[in-house]
Amino acid sequence: MEALKRIPITEAQRAVIETCSLYKTYKLGAVDVEVLKDINLSIHEGEFVSIMGPSGSGKSTLLYLIGGLDKPTAGSIKINSKELSVMKDKEQSILRRRDIGFVFQFYNLIPNLNIEDNIMLPILLDGKRIRDHRKKLDEILEVVGLTDRRGHTPRELSGGQQQRVAIARALINEPDIILADEPIGNLDSKTGTEVMELLRKINKEKGKTIVQVTHSRESAAYGDRVINVKDGRVWQ
Ligand SMILES: Nc1ncnc2c1ncn2[C@@H]1O[C@H](COP(=O)(O)OP(=O)(O)OP(=O)(O)O)[C@@H](O)[C@H]1O
Ligand SMILES: [Mg+2]
Repeated sequence: MEALKRIPITEAQRAVIETCSLYKTYKLGAVDVEVLKDINLSIHEGEFVSIMGPSGSGKSTLLYLIGGLDKPTAGSIKINSKELSVMKDKEQSILRRRDIGFVFQFYNLIPNLNIEDNIMLPILLDGKRIRDHRKKLDEILEVVGLTDRRGHTPRELSGGQQQRVAIARALINEPDIILADEPIGNLDSKTGTEVMELLRKINKEKGKTIVQVTHSRESAAYGDRVINVKDGRVWQ
């Protein structure tokens, strides 16, 4: 009985992202635009969640708030139980680099750096030594299937390959959480499927928590559940 009690049941359900009464209002001249209203979310370790909703409903805003790329007007965001609003800017940027990997619709790669250097950028920015992370780089290049393209520049790759580089870059610091804003929004359906398969593999095999924004029901179906955003509110 004693042993049973010690089984960390709640650990499997650990919330890695929590928002409480989250609001975001943009000021446009004299007008307040309420973009997000009273968002209460809890996303657990290892979940793959899709955020869906009409254009302009606040999906990207929500993702950027969660990732600490923007600040809420009110409310709280906790990442791995750490409250973002009480963290100093420097602490927040460390959290963004180490605990979270970002993937964007337009890849955001550096055109004149080769694939390896693009992937290693978060390591450099974190002041770590490249040579200590060579093995990790090799491993991740295998995972995303780009070992043979490591010396190429982004413009020599297809859109799907470029997005796989961006996913590799998001993984290099071994974050717990991957946030992806329309990761296949710019890709044809076959390439999009390949990228979604890769994200699923990363979720299942590496246990990463993934939150993606998507317009496509098909790509949302790769996740465990959908969070619907409409008029700045969440409908789960
Ligand atoms: N920096 C900003 N200043 C003012 N308004 C903004 C800003 N960023 C976003 N908005 C507004 O907030 C609303 C939500 O924008 P957001 O980008 O989150 O929508 P979205 O759901 O991601 O849409 P899409 O599907 O088109 O990407 C929009 O009305 C947008 O105009
Ligand atoms: Mg958006």
